[in-house]
Amino acid sequence: MAQLWGGRFTKATDQLVYDFNASIRFDRRLFEQDIRGSLAHAAMLAKQGILTEEEKEAISGGLQGILEDVKAGRLAIDETQEDIHSFVEAALIDRIGEAGKKLHTGRSRNDQVALDMRLYTRERVLETDRLLKELLEAILHTMEENLETYMPGFTHLQKAQPITLAHHYGAYFEMFRRDRGRLKDIYRRMNYCPLGAGALAGTTYPLDREYTASLLGFDGVTGNSMDSVSDRDYLIEFLSALSVIMMHLSRFSEEIIIWNSNEYQFVELDDAYSTGSSIMPQKKNPDIAELVRGKTGRVYGALVSLFTTMKGLPLAYNKDMQEDKEVAFDAMDTVRDCIVLFTGMLRTMKFRPERMAESAMNGFTNATDAADYLVGKGVPFRDAHGIVGRLVLYCIERNTSIDRLSMEELKGICDKFEEDIYEAVSLKTCVEKRLTTGAPGSEAMKEAIRRNREYLAEEALN
Ligand code: ARG
Repeated sequence: MAQLWGGRFTKATDQLVYDFNASIRFDRRLFEQDIRGSLAHAAMLAKQGILTEEEKEAISGGLQGILEDVKAGRLAIDETQEDIHSFVEAALIDRIGEAGKKLHTGRSRNDQVALDMRLYTRERVLETDRLLKELLEAILHTMEENLETYMPGFTHLQKAQPITLAHHYGAYFEMFRRDRGRLKDIYRRMNYCPLGAGALAGTTYPLDREYTASLLGFDGVTGNSMDSVSDRDYLIEFLSALSVIMMHLSRFSEEIIIWNSNEYQFVELDDAYSTGSSIMPQKKNPDIAELVRGKTGRVYGALVSLFTTMKGLPLAYNKDMQEDKEVAFDAMDTVRDCIVLFTGMLRTMKFRPERMAESAMNGFTNATDAADYLVGKGVPFRDAHGIVGRLVLYCIERNTSIDRLSMEELKGICDKFEEDIYEAVSLKTCVEKRLTTGAPGSEAMKEAIRRNREYLAEEALN
């Protein structure tokens, strides 16, 4: 006689095992890719004489019907199935009978899921690229409008030298441009079709892998069937690129949080992109920027998670690989939302140029230029550095700035100072004389903007 609880326990355990193993809850996202892959596979099987034309027609019609019905809400994805591949196949057999049972000829779920995930990821790479392009448009627009919006440039978060808002934004333009370059590389490297690899060792059917690949818009086929079913490099590369994007967004967010603080007041966030406090009526918090900064961790987490999943896996497919999906989907969604919201926040944010200029004036950001001025009057740079150091100290003691000192005071410290010093240390002069490539002077910036415009006029990744 079995234990009193035996039957029930076994059944309950079976259910737990089934649920633990099943992936439909999250791989249902691959529904459209799964159908597209199957349509191409069936077309290839017919071309090779493995399916008859009638069988292919029945399969294609069935798959199209399932696709339309699910999209229109007439057919629900059955979550009691193990995964999306099982669901589609079961629904097909349910609709067209015997011919449906032939779809999986020469295919394994291992190469099927490898294909679906590639097709899906490829789309998300393109989407990310498009969103980054919009972000770059917003950044460039602000650059064009702020060639003479002076502000302090920082090192160590200490005021260093004057720059312009255009110049500051230009730095982020470069970062997000590089991010798009990474996406382009990834796309190029990943765009090979794994279908036809079978479970791991190819198949005995005379498949035309190149044909399936061309139907699905791939540049070719993957080279080794074991690698084809167990390669997740492209996902790791994408998660890595997404992590770098988040790192950039997070740095930018941090600046906006600082600029929005009461001490700085360089910017004012639009009401739609900030929130109040339930207790402190004066507050207007930069929540969106903080959330973007905060979400960076979970995207890094996805990368480390998949790296860790993959590191000990022997060839070829192992069920561990099913763990690629949830973290990758979450990272892709997170980055999409962050770019969209961040772009909206930038577009609606107002600058306070007078506050920025005032801040640049009051932090001795023109000290280097004062020293350069003395160099122009024949003082060796090292001596000039010392003289201006004393000048700064003199100003600090009197709570004033270099440009507000009288000629007498200036001469008292160094007799090389002449009337033209005031012009030489004005914010405008300090910025405008910086004309090396990539520097903030407006002539140099105009050139950068021209290059950026030209770049954005190029085709997007696709
Ligand atoms: N749900 C599985 C995954 O995502 C599909 C592949 C299943 N293959 C297998 N041999 N059980 O990895």
